[in-house]
Formats: sequence, C-alpha cells, structure tokens
Amino acid sequence: MTSRYGISQYPDVPAIQARLAELTSTPIRTLTKEQLEEYHAWYAEHTPASREAAAEAESAIPGGVQHNLALNDPWALDIVAANGAYLYDADGNRYVDFLQAGGPTVLGSNYAPVREKVIELLASCGPVTGMLHASEIALAKLIHDFMPGVHKFRMLGSGTEAVMAAIRAARAFTGKANIIKIGGAYHGWSDQVVYGLRIPGTGSLEAVGIPAGALAATSEILPGDLDMLRARLTANAEAGGTAAVILEPVGPESGSYPVRLGFNAAVRELCDEFGALLVFDEVVTGFRLGMGGAQGYFGVTPDLTVFGKCVAGGYPAAGGVGGREEVMAVYAGGLTAGGQRALTGGTLSANPLSCTAGYHALLEMDRTDAPAKAGAAGDRLRDGLTTLIAKYDLPYVTYNFGSIVHLHTSGVLHLNLNDPAFFTELGPRKDMLGHMSMAFAAEGIVTLAGSRMYTSMADTDEVVDEALAGFERVFAKIPAA
Ligand SMILES: Cc1ncc(COP(=O)(O)O)c(C=O)c1O
Repeated sequence: MTSRYGISQYPDVPAIQARLAELTSTPIRTLTKEQLEEYHAWYAEHTPASREAAAEAESAIPGGVQHNLALNDPWALDIVAANGAYLYDADGNRYVDFLQAGGPTVLGSNYAPVREKVIELLASCGPVTGMLHASEIALAKLIHDFMPGVHKFRMLGSGTEAVMAAIRAARAFTGKANIIKIGGAYHGWSDQVVYGLRIPGTGSLEAVGIPAGALAATSEILPGDLDMLRARLTANAEAGGTAAVILEPVGPESGSYPVRLGFNAAVRELCDEFGALLVFDEVVTGFRLGMGGAQGYFGVTPDLTVFGKCVAGGYPAAGGVGGREEVMAVYAGGLTAGGQRALTGGTLSANPLSCTAGYHALLEMDRTDAPAKAGAAGDRLRDGLTTLIAKYDLPYVTYNFGSIVHLHTSGVLHLNLNDPAFFTELGPRKDMLGHMSMAFAAEGIVTLAGSRMYTSMADTDEVVDEALAGFERVFAKIPAA
C-alpha cells in the first residue's frame, strides 16, 4: 500500500456532540415558505425534462424512484451524464456531485482508466459466465494485501447481502444466535437488521413487513455506550450468547453519530471477553477512508468485514464479506467446514464485471492516493462550511472523516426519543432536511439527503469553492434567529 489515509485529523467528538445537543435544543433555522416557493419556481423553469421524467416514473416505479438516494423535492432529477466531480441533468444543468452514487466512487464518477478495463473485459468474456475468472482471485488477494486481517474474501452482490452473509457466518461459527447493532446504523434492508434504524432506540419502528420472529435475536445499544454494550452482552450470555456485534467503525450512518477514538478497540475487547465475533461494516469506510479501511486507520482487526460500494469500483453488484480463515471456512462446502456449509452466493455474485472494476479501481485508488486527495477535499469543504456557519450565525454542525462530510442543519437524527417533544419536533425537522437538500441542488450541489457529502479525488479546490458559493447562497437566505 503506497497511499495514505484520508483523515488528516480525527474530529473532536465530544465538542461535536455538545454542538449537536445545542442544535436540537434550539428552534429550527430554515428557509421561509416564500423562499421555498422561489426554489420551486427555479425547478419549474430550469428542470422541465426532469419534471416530465419524474411524472412518468411515478406511473411505473413505486414512489417514483428506485432508491431513496434519488429523492428530490419537488421532483427527482433526471441525470444523463456523470463525469468526475459533476452530474448533468436532462435539461443541461450541471451539479457538483457530492452524492458520488452513495459513496463508491472515490476516484470521481465514471473514471476513464477503470471504464477502459471494464470495456476490455466486456469485449472478451462479457460481464458474466458463471465460471471462475482471474479477476475474482486478483480482487480477493488485493483486498488481503490492503487489509491483512481479511484472509479470505467472498464476493457478493450488495452490502445488504454481505451483512446477511456475515451474520450467518457468525452464527454458524459461534453456534450462538444473538446479534447486537448500534442504534441509528443502517446495515442494509435484510429482515434481521431493520431495527433501530436512523434514530437510536427506535427498535422495530421501521420493520414493516417483517415478522417479529425475524428480529427476535437482534438488539441495539445507544451509539458509543460501552456500558450498555456490556449489559447487553451480559444479558445475552444468559440467553444463549452473542454471535456478533456489528458496527460501522466511524459511527452509525457513516458517522452521523460520530464515535470517540478508542471506541472500536473497547468493543473488540468486550467481544473477546464474551466470545462474540466483531463485524465491521465497512460498506462506506472500506477504501474510502484509506486502502486499509477503518480497521487499518483505527488499528483494530475485526473477525469479519462487510464490504460494498468501493469494492466494485462504482460498478454494479458491490458486496462482499471477508475475514479470519477459520470463520470464512463456514462458507466452504465439504471437509473444510466439517461437511456443513453456511449458504451464500447468487447467480451473478462474483461476476467478472464487478471483480474487474473493483480490482482496477482499488489499484488506481492506491496508485493515485485517492483516499487522501478526496479527504483533503473533505477538509476544505468542512472548513468552508464552518466559516459560513459562523458568518451567518447558524446553529448547524459540520465535521468530516476525510471524504465523508457531515452537515447537520435540522438535527433530526439527534432528537431524543425519550424527550416528550420528540414527536412534535420530528416532522418539521425532517421536512427541513428535504428543503435544504432541494435548495442545495437548485444552487448546483447534489448531496446525500442534504446532510452528507462524499467527496472524491475529482474535487479540486475550484470544485469545492464552487460548491461553497452555492451553500453560501442558501445560508445567506436563512432568516435571523
Ligand atoms: C454502512 C452500510 N451498510 C450496508 C449498506 C447496504 O449496502 P447496499 O446498498 O449495497 O445493499 C449500506 C448502504 O448504504 C451502508 O451504508
């Protein structure tokens, strides 16, 4: 590994938590009804083709979008081109792309050297054969080189699948059923992890269409709460034990609830004490923070690592699980696994297309030092936002883990479930997030739900400054307190 990590300085988490507590205890500072109408008028004037596509999509696609990432008020944007730092819609508008497809493209969108390798592959063997392909081996070995704790690697189709596979392996290996997650974290949409989503402590609130039995062995702890984790592990020990603790190493929702330095190491110790496996969900952090992932950055080796996004270089079918030799053996049939096998895999998992794209993207990321460059862009964005927040005297909170940049404007994720005001605050704060996201896009910046930005190597100083000018146009409109 020749590249560097993307985090230049670890965020001051206690200070951030204090500011977040302040944000949720002060009234929201948002755009007025008239300003929202002006933005709607902008969309009507400048995005008629998107409007038409969105109306058609409504008739053919549930909710009009295939993924929440594409939600936009008043209508979804019809993107026709993506290149480096920019997205272009069907009406010819250009946007700074801080969505980066939800995270996989640290090199920037549609990066030509990777695309060329993919085209070469398509010309020779096509995207999929069902047989062994050299790219599968190359990718697994490369991941091991970057993350020595990943002895073996099973390629799968998505982060969701990889989480399913990791939990199954943990249960097969330990013979225990219970899993513990951190409240607020998203680990995909499989039955067993649709629990404590987005807002910690919400349990099965979002488990629509999921029988209670599917969640019977899942529990959550509050972010960063080691006492609660110990208590849960202790309680589970009386109920058959814990198969795994699964967590995002920078904190739930890519660090929307940031963890203090040292948290992951403490969880590792607790897992060892209770005989539970530690699973790192590195779907976002895997290679975005650096080629060694969060595990390399924190110096904590999990038993299993869940991969997604970057692992296929921004191409489809991005997922995989890797880890300790003995644990990974449960996926193998025959003698290695004592005749028993934890079932994983699908027709198109580990296809040559995803593996080729992933292999060449990871090589390129290392060669070009992309995680550090994207991280420097994240630092510049955070610095600029910090200045703007102070300039316009706003209660907003911004911080970053390298190229993962957070901007909390409404504080909706940090509302306290036990506060009687929770249910009256939830709606307006959630709406505000949508409004900010809409305003940012109208000002030429596509974000993840108005609260998260993924930067890439393509984000030069000029690109970041262009985006900051757009953020300023929105912030300047917010009425004084
Ligand atoms: C931390 C984390 N885990 C798992 C997933 C699920 O991955 P996928 O969308 O590929 O199923 C996501 C998706 O955003 C994620 O952010």
